[in-house]
Amino acid sequence: HIFSDSDSASKSVAKEIADLIRKNNQASKPTILGLATGSSPKKVYQELIRIHREEGLSFKDVITFNLDEYHPMEPDSIQSYVRFMKEQLFDHIDIPVTNYHLPDGTLSLDKIPEFCRDYEAKIERLGGFDYYLLGIGRNGHIGFNEPGSTINSKTRLMTLDIATKIDASPDFGGLQKVPKKAITLGIDSIMKSKKIVLLAWGEHKADSVAKAVEGTVTSDIPASYLQLHPNASFILDETAASML
Ligand code: GLP
Repeated sequence: HIFSDSDSASKSVAKEIADLIRKNNQASKPTILGLATGSSPKKVYQELIRIHREEGLSFKDVITFNLDEYHPMEPDSIQSYVRFMKEQLFDHIDIPVTNYHLPDGTLSLDKIPEFCRDYEAKIERLGGFDYYLLGIGRNGHIGFNEPGSTINSKTRLMTLDIATKIDASPDFGGLQKVPKKAITLGIDSIMKSKKIVLLAWGEHKADSVAKAVEGTVTSDIPASYLQLHPNASFILDETAASML
């Protein structure tokens, strides 16, 4: 879906999420959402906050799981995804603190495998994701599933690709300060979502978007796996769609 700009695209995505939550609230069913950080979903979150404030949409029965977190990372650090999600969304809506989940960047290495298994098990016990909101890295990654990740990859500690570290370096004040690793939800859990929506804005995303949408399905571009999903959409502005 190609929109003239990211504002109108974000509003349309937020409306779709709000409609899903409203429908589930009416049926007294929880809504299981997968969420992403980064600049791409920011306007969607702003619009969801507006809908909560102005239209009274309740998030009390919304349960969320984020894609990823740097490791090591303290939750109150400026670059932490926990902090990002609180500032951009959770602190402004009525979601209970116990309903949102992010990978834990403070775990010691030996505790990570068990944490990752539990994270996936929780999602599965809830019946999997109703809706997953994704961004895309310039190298075609989704979450921190870097090039080379297989379609059945599990939630795990991942070594960050050099392109990812370069893109993150302004946030950390230099390449050397970017964490070398991150915990990411695996492609397997993302692919089990009933619906997947990937957002991409700007010319710098055009190449990876074109490869993901029109190229061969390959581990070199993890977002290309979405071609194999029955209900996945790419929501683009004109510049991100310019190489299609
Ligand atoms: C990071 C995150 C991804 C995100 C990507 C794109 O690497 N781990 O989940 O999708 O960046 O970020 P942005 O939306 O800022 O372009």
